[in-house]
Amino acid sequence: MKIIHLSDTHLGASVLDERFERIVDDLTRLRPLNPDNHLIIHTGDLIHQATRENRAAARLRLDRFRAFGYQVLLCPGNHDYGGSLSVNPQAACDFQETFSDYIFPDKKARNFPSLYLRDDCAFIGLDSNAAELRGLDRFFAEGHLGKAQLAKLNMLLDSELVQGKKIVLFLHHHPFFFGYSVSPDLGDGKVFAHLFARLTRAFRRLKDAYSFCRIVRDRAHVLLFGHMHYGLDCSGESIKYGIPLALDGGSTTCAESGEDRMRYRIIDLENMTQEIRFLKL
Ligand SMILES: [Fe+2]
Ligand SMILES: [Fe+2]
Repeated sequence: MKIIHLSDTHLGASVLDERFERIVDDLTRLRPLNPDNHLIIHTGDLIHQATRENRAAARLRLDRFRAFGYQVLLCPGNHDYGGSLSVNPQAACDFQETFSDYIFPDKKARNFPSLYLRDDCAFIGLDSNAAELRGLDRFFAEGHLGKAQLAKLNMLLDSELVQGKKIVLFLHHHPFFFGYSVSPDLGDGKVFAHLFARLTRAFRRLKDAYSFCRIVRDRAHVLLFGHMHYGLDCSGESIKYGIPLALDGGSTTCAESGEDRMRYRIIDLENMTQEIRFLKL
C-alpha cells in the first residue's frame, strides 16, 4: 500500500485552483498510479476560506480522484473551518457535512478519530481544531485536539481493531516544535510577515502537542500533517517518540511558499520509503 500525501491546497485563493487541477490531471490522466494500491491523504487546509463556493469547487476536484478509483482520506485544517486567524463552529459543521464521506469513510461513525482499515493498515484521522471552536480559543487557530479526542485516540490504539496493523496517523497541525525552527531570509521585503512569525512562534504550535506525542509514542508507524507549508521530513524528531516516519506535506499548490515547483510525496508503507514527484510551475 502506498500513500499519495497532499496538503494545504488552499483552493479558492488566486491561481491555486488551476495548480491543483494540474495535480489532479497528473494523477489521473498523465501519470496515473494504480488506485488498487495507492490512496490519497489530504492533511487539511483544502480550501482557503470557508465559503460554500470554495467547498463546492473543492468537492468536484476530490470527486475526480474518486472517479478515477482512488480512495481519498481528508482531515480538516484551520482554513477549512474559517481562516488563518480564527475558526468557527458553523464553518466546521459545513465542512464536515460537505466532505463527510472523505473525512469519515466508515459511514457508521461520524466522529474523530476517524478510522479506515485497508489491507494490513489502519488510517486514523484527527481533527486538530476540535477543541478550538469556542471562546477565545477560536482565535489564532494554532491547533488543539482536546482531551476527549486524545482519550478516544488512546483507546483506539489499544483496540483489537488496529492490533498488528501498520498505523498511519494524520492531522493538520504540526506536532513538533522543530517545525518552527525554519526562518525565511531577512531582506526579502516581507518584514511584517517575519515579525509576526517571530513574535507568535512560541505559541503557534498544536496546544496539546505534548500530550499527543505521549499518547502516540511507540504506537504509530507514520505521522502525516501540514499547516506550516514547509514540507519537511520530520522523522528525525518523531523517531525520538518511536515513530519512524513523520512528514509535513507542505503546500502541494505552493500557497505562500515562493517555490518554483509543486511537489507531493508517495510513501511506500511496505518499505517505509518515500518518493517525491515534482511539477514545475
Ligand atoms: Fe495552510
Ligand atoms: Fe493551516
